[in-house]
Amino acid sequence: MPGQKLSFPGRNYLFAPGPTHIPTVVQNAMNVPMEDHRAPDFPELVKPILRDLKKVFLTKTGTPFIFPATGTAGWEVALANTLSPGDKILTSRFGQFSHLWYDLAKRIGLEVELIDTKWGNGIEIEKFKKALANDKDKKIKAVVVCHNETATGVTSDIAGLRKAMDQVKHPALLMVDGVSSIASVEFRFDKWKVDIAVSGSQKGFMLPAGLAILCFSKKALAMRKTAKCKRCFLDIQDHINTNKDGFFPYTPPVNLLRGLRVAIDLLLEEGMENVFARHKRLANGVRAAIKAWGLKLAASSPKWQSDTVSAIWLEPGSKNNPDGKKAMEVISIAYHTYNISLGAGLTQVAGKVFRIGHLGDNNETRMMAALGAVEMAMIDAGIKFTPGSGTGAAAKYWTSNPNKALKKKKKK
Ligand SMILES: Cc1ncc(COP(=O)(O)O)c(C=O)c1O
Repeated sequence: MPGQKLSFPGRNYLFAPGPTHIPTVVQNAMNVPMEDHRAPDFPELVKPILRDLKKVFLTKTGTPFIFPATGTAGWEVALANTLSPGDKILTSRFGQFSHLWYDLAKRIGLEVELIDTKWGNGIEIEKFKKALANDKDKKIKAVVVCHNETATGVTSDIAGLRKAMDQVKHPALLMVDGVSSIASVEFRFDKWKVDIAVSGSQKGFMLPAGLAILCFSKKALAMRKTAKCKRCFLDIQDHINTNKDGFFPYTPPVNLLRGLRVAIDLLLEEGMENVFARHKRLANGVRAAIKAWGLKLAASSPKWQSDTVSAIWLEPGSKNNPDGKKAMEVISIAYHTYNISLGAGLTQVAGKVFRIGHLGDNNETRMMAALGAVEMAMIDAGIKFTPGSGTGAAAKYWTSNPNKALKKKKKK
């Protein structure tokens, strides 16, 4: 096709942490003629999607919303529909995405108390607890955090954060960016008493980019009545008015909704607990490979290691990255020579990391392809390691820790 990069032979494998591979059944479901979004039977598509999204978020009481947008707009939906200019939020920055949400909050006129944290760490709960305990006048209206910092491969403890908020009896809303965690790793909207969860379609939901997918608690929903941040396209009230009858306030991307229908079916058929367990197993195998290569993760502690993305740390000036260019070289060789996409280091960690995404439609075989291609790219880039050590370690891990859900299915 004119202008399109040919990926033949084989295909370009996506091991950046999003967009992720689209399952064939999802792809096929989207490849349908355009539909009338005001057709009388359109609600038969929309209402069950909104109902079943609750099962993905693990909520009975939350209200999901779908915007034709991306995760970034989801951040704005969360803040603008609940807060007013000058309201104070408490957040932490420990990577590019937690930085961007902080930046967005400031740019829409909120006051931000920032806990600046070393990249590679996650949310430092004690610091949040202290800041909330010191907030005697309850000026902080929302605690705003990134569950899975995709830039550094760091997952934070949201259940622990909620516990700390409750211990100091702080009434702030809990807003969580789950763009690279929801529909992949453990995320429990009701149990963790999350007030707003933000996600996007191109990661755990295994779709093209184009949908911001959110969930609001009753408490967060009620705050739209007092929120004075300016909003129009991103106003949840227009969705509330139309979603109840199975419609949208404007033309929705119907083909993406067709794909979302099937993606949700796949997730629920596997079962959310099995989805979480699969991501953990795959991540453990990838981490076994990284360890066997003699390399380190950007995540500074095992408690923060992400099950959706591993950021591999190549210290500039070290034997494996003497000129600070090796991480980019691995990514470039992987792409041009072996036809796979890895994640690059962003801003503060540019040139220091390359990232392997292991979320979405993946199994051992796909991840083995990624590890094999990374090994070849590292050989070509002159990284010192024993070829085969990583793939061998991952094979050992995955064969001695088989996918239990798959075994049960076979027995039936
Ligand atoms: C954790 C996280 N939050 C937010 C975003 C922004 O989402 P989008 O690019 O869909 O606007 C990303 C994108 O990768 C992300 O990883």
